[in-house]
Amino acid sequence: MSEPLSVSTPGPLLDIAELAKRFTVGGKQGLLARVTSFRKPVAPLPQLHAVDEVSFTIARGETVGLVGESGCGKSTLVRLINRLLDPTSGSIRLAGTELADFKARAFAANPHRARIQMVFQDAGDSLNPRYTAADAIADPIRRLKKMPGAKLAARVEALADMTGLPRELLSRFPHQLSGGQKARVGIARAIAVEPELLILDEPTAALDVSVQVVILQLLQQLKRELGMSYLFVSHDLNVVRLLCDRVLVMYLGKIVEQGPAAEVFADPRHPYTKALISAIPQADPAQRADRLRLGGEPRSPIDPDPTVCRFYGRCPKGTPRCAEEMPLLHPAGSARQVACHFA
Ligand SMILES: Nc1ncnc2c1ncn2[C@@H]1O[C@H](COP(=O)(O)OP(=O)(O)O)[C@@H](O)[C@H]1O
Ligand SMILES: [Mg+2]
Repeated sequence: MSEPLSVSTPGPLLDIAELAKRFTVGGKQGLLARVTSFRKPVAPLPQLHAVDEVSFTIARGETVGLVGESGCGKSTLVRLINRLLDPTSGSIRLAGTELADFKARAFAANPHRARIQMVFQDAGDSLNPRYTAADAIADPIRRLKKMPGAKLAARVEALADMTGLPRELLSRFPHQLSGGQKARVGIARAIAVEPELLILDEPTAALDVSVQVVILQLLQQLKRELGMSYLFVSHDLNVVRLLCDRVLVMYLGKIVEQGPAAEVFADPRHPYTKALISAIPQADPAQRADRLRLGGEPRSPIDPDPTVCRFYGRCPKGTPRCAEEMPLLHPAGSARQVACHFA
């Protein structure tokens, strides 16, 4: 007898431990040099540390925000969790099941595939131009759940209703839909197989501001109705503050601060978090003047020195110790962790 996949286990829904992804860089020339110089020992090719020993959890029903500037590794991290990319090392446990051992290539047909779904940044790009909205929404159900045709059609209509997509648009192709309508199709498709965890990678970045608000409200409503957990990637800290229970702050592949969103926003401890939060657009000119600007050059993610803080060089607090000893995440308060010697 097969066990149901989503038995309610104690502990977090998602448990990420020491997850890492390194990309080999140096291009074809580097690879060619290795192939042609097989007799001589060659130096290892440079490694870009996109995600570096990241650990965190997500509870059932929790919304966790992931913030950090462009290129810090947010998309790589969520693609690892969504099993679109194989990790270099580390663990991805979903309600106790290790997912890191499954190969990304074969994961589309894995029964666990239905449990984690993703809403992509640009709904337009992520939809197949030859699929109607109905086909796009039905596609994951066809692949992952056996459902007879009549029942499937009714389910697709129900999903359109849930996501506020008028049923008469179900026969349209992506190019015949507006940005907001495509976003609704992307969301309907992601929730079609009843995931426990929904990953949202900048879900509204491609939308007009007025449409963003409506789509964010829809996402909040669906979360309440369906009891999913969200991992919400956004560069918009105002949105993260509004929507998220907890926030993870990422800098050059590492989580540098995490904790309850209300605490982190009210009292950021890591100098990078402070800079991020001070850069949030403010209506009040007095607060605008407090804006913290980062000087210096960002460090390279390629073969970073494991003894130097990743933020060293840009950090207004940097001391010689920061260049000799990488600060690790450590507790700062009951639910907060910060990776800074001076937090
Ligand atoms: N397939 C890849 N090969 C090499 N480097 C990559 C690849 N994907 C991402 N990177 C690098 O990994 C780092 C993190 O990228 P990404 O996860 O897209 O960041 P973010 O989503 O925060 O903008 C960047 O330096 C990026 O150039
Ligand atoms: Mg990204």
